Amino acid sequence: MIHGIKGVKDILPDESRRWQTIETAARRFATLYGFQEIRVPVFEVTELFARSIGATTDIVEKEMYTFQDRDGTSLTLRPEATAGVVRAYIEHSLSGQPTAQKLYYLGPMFRHERPQAGRLRQFHQFGVESFGSTSPHADVEVMSLLLRFLTGLGLTGLTLELNSLGDASDRPAYKAILVEFLKTKEERLCGNCRRRMQTNPLRVLDCKVPECRLATEQAPKLTDHLSPAARAHFQQVTEGLTALGIPYTLNPRLVRGLDYYTLTTFEVTTGNLGAQNAVGAGGRYDGLVKALGGSETPAVGFAVGLERVALLLPEQALQPLDRLIFVAAIGASGARVGVRILDGLRAAGVRAESDLRGASLKAQLRHADRLGASSVVILGDDEITQGVALVRNMSTKEQQTVPLDRVVETLSK
Ligand code: HAM
Repeated sequence: MIHGIKGVKDILPDESRRWQTIETAARRFATLYGFQEIRVPVFEVTELFARSIGATTDIVEKEMYTFQDRDGTSLTLRPEATAGVVRAYIEHSLSGQPTAQKLYYLGPMFRHERPQAGRLRQFHQFGVESFGSTSPHADVEVMSLLLRFLTGLGLTGLTLELNSLGDASDRPAYKAILVEFLKTKEERLCGNCRRRMQTNPLRVLDCKVPECRLATEQAPKLTDHLSPAARAHFQQVTEGLTALGIPYTLNPRLVRGLDYYTLTTFEVTTGNLGAQNAVGAGGRYDGLVKALGGSETPAVGFAVGLERVALLLPEQALQPLDRLIFVAAIGASGARVGVRILDGLRAAGVRAESDLRGASLKAQLRHADRLGASSVVILGDDEITQGVALVRNMSTKEQQTVPLDRVVETLSK
């Protein structure tokens, strides 16, 4: 027997309603906020991810599924979608299309991480990318959408964590200050952080190793080293959130695992998921479009991990199914009439099901009950001879006799 791959899950029929509920809400909220769907490929040339996410990030260094195409081109299964959306934005000159500045996507992403609850190697994201505005309102708009989507699904206990990484010119000066500080704590840092001190010092702030966290407790904060413009932007973002009644917590360690961010970064976390506490995250990336060959275009976005949303989704949030009618036909003549009634119900927009295995009436009623049918249309030889059907209400167990030509009409009311 061949097994599925570790960390790559099947979504089985009893879970798919949960997923449909989440995806329907994602589309509804994205549309409410003026975002249009974009579908980009699940694989791209490797260079796209190396250049946008950053060559020294964990994702690019350790987590990508990279393979050679037959002509030797290096390709990678997308570990996230921002890079691909930006590529498409540039390639199709979307900057010239006023209606294509706010884009959303849903789909699978691939990262070679150690699988555990809420962390998979193929996982799914709902994300949005908003192009063309430097306004703090654009940052606030995507955060508002993220929270409305999550709370709209009934999720509770969420915290919006917020930070600013400054603009591109703030970073080098801060990095130097941070590295000076880290040098004084070097012997307390884990091996990974010592290496990161050279390659990507901001990531040391994000290390989960308790000793590293303690050692960096007094680290200089990026938000204390912002340029006046970056400081003003951050302040307007916080004011914008407050104006909309959206609570947030400042987290100076929130540097994120992708290098394209500038200014605002944010993460929505929950206390209900154990170690994998980030439900969704994002930020501003004003330099990425230009870095990938487009014109100077500011942008801000987020992505939500849908497996994590599925784990947190309360049962009451599930979209109710339409009522179901079961057509239980017995014998050859019953079956002939049965298929016509079944088809008539479906044509009238009524969810209807029948037994196709020739089971006994008793077995069919049991099956109808398991499926949650609200009524069963019983078509036995006696009924057919009399030109009627018995319609049985499954909750009250009441039965009424209905002429065959009135069954669909009666049940589609
Ligand atoms: P990210 O923080 O790498 O950001 O991922 C966003 C969310 O995807 C995480 O908060 C988490 O819920 C989920 N996620 C990430 N890795 C896994 C995994 N292995 N298994 C399950 N869920 C996972 C991005 O991907 C950026 N592209 C977000 C963004 C969009 N920034 C700007 N625009």
